[in-house]
Amino acid sequence: MTSDIQMIPLPDGTSAWRITGYEAARQALSDRRLSKVLKAEELGLEPELASSMLRMMMFLDPPDHTRLRRLISATFTAHRIEALRPRIEQLTAGMLDAIAAHETVDLIETFAYPLPLQVICELLGVPAEDRVEFRDWSAIVAAGPGRQHEMPQALERVLKRTRALLADRAAHPGDDLLSGLLAAREEGDRLSEDELTSMVFMLLIAGHETTVNLIGNGVFVLLEDRDRWIRLRDEPELLPTSIEEFIRYESPIATATQRRTTEALELGGQSIPAGSRVMISLAGANRDEAHFHDAGEPRLDRAPNPHLGFGHGIHYCLGAPLARLQAQVVFSALLTRFPHLELAVPADEVGRRSDFQRGVTRLPVRLHGGH
Ligand code: HEM
Repeated sequence: MTSDIQMIPLPDGTSAWRITGYEAARQALSDRRLSKVLKAEELGLEPELASSMLRMMMFLDPPDHTRLRRLISATFTAHRIEALRPRIEQLTAGMLDAIAAHETVDLIETFAYPLPLQVICELLGVPAEDRVEFRDWSAIVAAGPGRQHEMPQALERVLKRTRALLADRAAHPGDDLLSGLLAAREEGDRLSEDELTSMVFMLLIAGHETTVNLIGNGVFVLLEDRDRWIRLRDEPELLPTSIEEFIRYESPIATATQRRTTEALELGGQSIPAGSRVMISLAGANRDEAHFHDAGEPRLDRAPNPHLGFGHGIHYCLGAPLARLQAQVVFSALLTRFPHLELAVPADEVGRRSDFQRGVTRLPVRLHGGH
């Protein structure tokens, strides 16, 4: 039996502890002795650019994290998210209309990629003329090391645009999330300009590609074995459990963001020294046979499904309700609009990635295929 915790070498010559078992992963995600605070040099960016990344609550511990999370939670409410449903339905229908006349399309390029970008931009109130820039930037960040050299310039441009956007919204407040964040106050506290800027960054990074991957992975799981597509089409009441199962079985965030031990500790029976880097494999934990019956099989009716795909503990995904809402709208629209959808290439020719993010990069489908 392989251990749930192993030391692995990292590309930069250092090493980290990698956790793949469910119990140890869950413990590590909520253990306060593991810090998320990043060091500027770990980002490989100029100090000024790094500093705006380092203010994201995703890379902070309490009490800084607690403060930012409280301020954003007051604005990013369930009510505000649910209110987006009709608009998401409208955008989805419009994008599906636009492709319906084609026989074969790449569902990622034509739909799964643009939809969440449009949603997050509208939620933030990013005007249409800025969206191309945000899209390019998001693609550079998501490409990881491959486009690392383009990062500083892209970041600088987006920082500038974000600051201008915030200044404009401060002068002309609306009812978008950005205006809400500008006005957010808790017991006399409020967000500084730097904090607001990095908050916008964080939402763009965290909210776009992850949702693209959820849509792409879900469609792939259903079409790889078309009995699944047919079952969900005929039993739409299975949609909520199916969405959770897509996240468990093909976790869009395969590895949680890095943590570091602040003191020597024990995880899953393994002693880990202070100052160690810890990588938690959510994809591994979510397929742990010791925790999930038939972990290697997607089961559309799996319940309960306590997967770790949205993390666990104080950093639990802030956008989970938005991701779930988009998935509900998207899958129900696809199943109704294109009941005979099928892969246009053999399953092993579908483009896939599995690094920190797990996703489908190219998904050719026949819109009006078999029965
Ligand atoms: C299927 C889609 C998504 C998945 C699988 C996902 C997954 C995750 C995970 C695993 C974490 C915790 C990371 C860690 O502890 O290291 C996280 C945090 C976060 N997510 Fe998501 N996410 C998704 C969509 C979104 C969306 C749509 C948004 C925003 C619009 C969002 C915003 C955030 C934020 C702000 C955090 C940091 C929370 C904190 O540090 O307190 N996510 N997400």
